[in-house]
Amino acid sequence: MFLALIGTLSSGALLYGLYYIAAWYLREWRYRWPPGPRCLPLIGSPQSQSDLKSFQRTNYNNAKKYGSVVRTMLGPHAVVQLNDPKIIKEAFSRDVFVPRPTIWYFDERARMNDGATGIVFSHGQTWKDHRRFILHTLRDFGVGKFKMEEKIVEEAATLIKLLEAANGQPIDTRAPISSTVANVIGSVLMSKRYEPDDPDFLNIIRWTRESTQFTPKKIALASFPFLRYVPPFLTTYSELLGNLLGFKKFFWQHCKEHLDNWQPERNADFIDTYIAAIKKHEPATFNLNELLLTLDDMFEAGFETTTTTLRWALLLMATHPDSQAKVHAELDKNIPFDSFAKLSDKEQLPYTEATITEVHRFASVVPVGVGHLAEEDATIQGYDIPKGTWLQANIYFVHHNTDWWDQPEQFNPDRFLTKDNQVQASDNVMPFGLGKRRCLGEALARAELFIIFTAVMQRFTVRLPDGGQTADLSPTVGVIADTQPHQLCFVPRNV
Ligand code: HEM
Repeated sequence: MFLALIGTLSSGALLYGLYYIAAWYLREWRYRWPPGPRCLPLIGSPQSQSDLKSFQRTNYNNAKKYGSVVRTMLGPHAVVQLNDPKIIKEAFSRDVFVPRPTIWYFDERARMNDGATGIVFSHGQTWKDHRRFILHTLRDFGVGKFKMEEKIVEEAATLIKLLEAANGQPIDTRAPISSTVANVIGSVLMSKRYEPDDPDFLNIIRWTRESTQFTPKKIALASFPFLRYVPPFLTTYSELLGNLLGFKKFFWQHCKEHLDNWQPERNADFIDTYIAAIKKHEPATFNLNELLLTLDDMFEAGFETTTTTLRWALLLMATHPDSQAKVHAELDKNIPFDSFAKLSDKEQLPYTEATITEVHRFASVVPVGVGHLAEEDATIQGYDIPKGTWLQANIYFVHHNTDWWDQPEQFNPDRFLTKDNQVQASDNVMPFGLGKRRCLGEALARAELFIIFTAVMQRFTVRLPDGGQTADLSPTVGVIADTQPHQLCFVPRNV
């Protein structure tokens, strides 16, 4: 009986395997796929996924070899990478490519929250309502305007104290910069600020980091969700699940505090404004579960990206003392030492502006953006993009393509300045993505980067601990490309 059962199961598995392979080759033959590395049924394109040390480089080489639209595979999923900003903008402005692909992690997250999707992984009416609401609410809270500027300056001043306390000794910038950035977004979302050593806050930093860095086990789980039942992957799966529960508990605590002390006229932060909308049943897609996940998304999307960009900026200043000296000279000439640069000072600080743009280009902190999904069969540049295909903007390639950039591996802010010292923008810099799902926090991120970077540069000379000028400037591999672990010395300036 037992042997018969095993026999039936094995034959079933074999038949399913044969069916899968036949369906795969039929699909290969039926569609005019974009060119790309060799793909195999189930395994995908192993050369695109296996080398975790050079994910960005592999994507770069594929773009150079196969052109502006490239097909690769992540396990069984077809992934099309777009390598030209014009094509990215055109494609991501079309409704058919607005949805997002999901992996088990986000399906699990939706399951834990009664099917809610938040903002980053929503689509349809839920996405439209939330996107409109977030844009209006951020604007009403003064993002990009004076009100928000004051809050950022306040946090920048706290950061300066933390850096001064290190007395020029080497420190890891992760904790102080994370707390600065988290406190800005935390105040907009839930009127909350944390000390850098607060245990809840340290957990949030760790979970956010864990959800944005790739490891071989996480990639395998994303490709083949059934691996969650296999022991070495089971541990990773359980840890990530634990993080999801941790996020939920953290944001629920804030929502509950707001609900318990609800005052209709208060409108102090994002949670207040959202609860008011739920109480009016307008829009109908709003509910507490969506609020929880939207808070989580806004916090994660807004915190790790901006923190990482600032850490890159300071590391690049330490490794490029000539650029650092030019930033110092420009700030000293235009901003009194006892005050902070304001957004309205940008025009007087072209070199500093060019430096921040060059940091975005060089670091390419979100190297392939956030995935998009083809909702129906469609075409791009004459190639078929079948329903269900995942799409990525190859931002790293756009920022490093030797056809568009002179010596792209060199950090050189001058490339964004005209001969008469004016900032010159480039369509080939797109750190915030393009099209209908372009970053919702761009104005806030730009304000934070400018105010916090100038505040630190005005007051410190940033150096590597050994006094040298070379460090490993290769990015880590993940949804967010971080710096390699490093420490920096902040030596107070006497101007
Ligand atoms: C340097 C900082 C930042 C960078 C480089 C960045 C980059 C990006 C990119 C590349 C996308 C994907 C665009 C696409 O899907 O095509 C995105 C989406 C998003 N970002 Fe940012 N971001 C930053 C800061 C922020 C901040 C501060 C917030 C929140 C206040 C934020 C909230 C979001 C949200 C909610 C989305 C999803 C939008 C949607 O799905 O419709 N980001 N960001």
